[in-house]
Amino acid sequence: MQALLVILIINAFVLILCALVAFSGQLLRQSGDADLVVNKESARKVGCGQSLLPALAEAGIFLPAACGGKGTCGRCEIKVIAGGSSVTPMETIILEPQRLQSLARLACQVKVRQNIEVEVPAGLLAAKFLWARLESAQVVAEEIKTLQFNIEDDGELDFKPGQYIQIFYQMPWERVLRAYSISSSASTKKSFSLDIQRISGGLVSNYLHQLQPGDQIEVSGPFGEMYLTDEQANCPIILVAGGVGLAPLRAILEKLRELNFPQPVWLFHGARSRKNLYCEKYFHELAQRYASFKYLPALSNPMLEEGWVGSRGLIHELLEQQTLTGVSEAVAFVCGPSPMMQAVTKVLVAKGLASDRILTDPFDFS
Ligand SMILES: Cc1cc2nc3c(=O)[nH]c(=O)nc-3n(C[C@H](O)[C@H](O)[C@H](O)COP(=O)(O)OP(=O)(O)OC[C@H]3O[C@@H](n4cnc5c(N)ncnc54)[C@H](O)[C@@H]3O)c2cc1C
Ligand code: FES
Repeated sequence: MQALLVILIINAFVLILCALVAFSGQLLRQSGDADLVVNKESARKVGCGQSLLPALAEAGIFLPAACGGKGTCGRCEIKVIAGGSSVTPMETIILEPQRLQSLARLACQVKVRQNIEVEVPAGLLAAKFLWARLESAQVVAEEIKTLQFNIEDDGELDFKPGQYIQIFYQMPWERVLRAYSISSSASTKKSFSLDIQRISGGLVSNYLHQLQPGDQIEVSGPFGEMYLTDEQANCPIILVAGGVGLAPLRAILEKLRELNFPQPVWLFHGARSRKNLYCEKYFHELAQRYASFKYLPALSNPMLEEGWVGSRGLIHELLEQQTLTGVSEAVAFVCGPSPMMQAVTKVLVAKGLASDRILTDPFDFS
């Protein structure tokens, strides 16, 4: 009984603390507006108290923020010419001293407290804000759903295969965003699909898994430097995915299929067990139809009852065992958890592929 009382008191204390944080956030937001000047254009009013990342979004400028604003990915780098808050410890880790000296800052770390002037690279101004509506959701593997969205109104998503979008999720006290790779063909601009792995306790992945057909989401994009160019599409291509890291590689594969696989293409996909592997049947059928496409899955921990007769072990081990003809001419796209990407990169370099021909996009930032 006493223990229950202590738990109740602690819970009440935590709730009061959360309410206070939310309330003080609101107060700060309400403490006035500031003028935001971007690239020397006319000033726009934005709310004080928030960080520059959502303030820029308020002004219609959507920056990449793969870590969701934790200050660990470095993708929201801009220049603050005047009016920025002091440099945070995260910025001193991510930005070299010379870059800080040349006014580089992480937009997610800078607080808007007064009028502020910034410089945003032209390449980061292309991303758009869009509303999308869920058309269908399909469970494709354990804890992975493929969600098909249609873009609302006259919006279009003009992306390159391999790029990602960001999804906004409104919490009572703040708006968070997460990055998700587009897994569908880049030829279709009015709709897109995402492969979402549900993370236990994860905020946005659980929200997305609970969506019902007809529900609307807010997205911005496209973003990302890991994408297939027209020139690369005519080179041998090595695709290596770990788990749901397959998502952007599916979009790349779709582009290569549309081109009838002009050069050899190898798809390596690593998963724990067969229930974590997805699109297996589709890739096997594709490999039967196109001689230049090879599908090489590997399971690190197959279950006895799954009757798995394919490769066992980690995906970089399977890659190591393969003879890939013309490897030095190839371009590799690697996506998944960071340790897997490091191991795969090492193997590819040892096989003779120059590191600047290996493109990666980590899903995790610690
Ligand atoms: C460029 C990019 C593309 C991405 N594309 C995809 C994609 O196509 N599909 C997809 O499912 N995800 C993708 N992600 C990951 C995605 O952005 C989120 O990080 C992920 O969905 C977790 O968000 P959450 O809000 O559910 O969890 P959070 O609320 O952020 O985290 C809850 C807890 O789970 C932990 N956690 C977070 N991520 C993982 C993880 N992957 N494994 C184990 N624990 C974790 C956190 O450390 C935290 O303790 C991508 C990430 C990046 C940077
Ligand atoms: S969003 Fe700013 S560092 Fe990742």
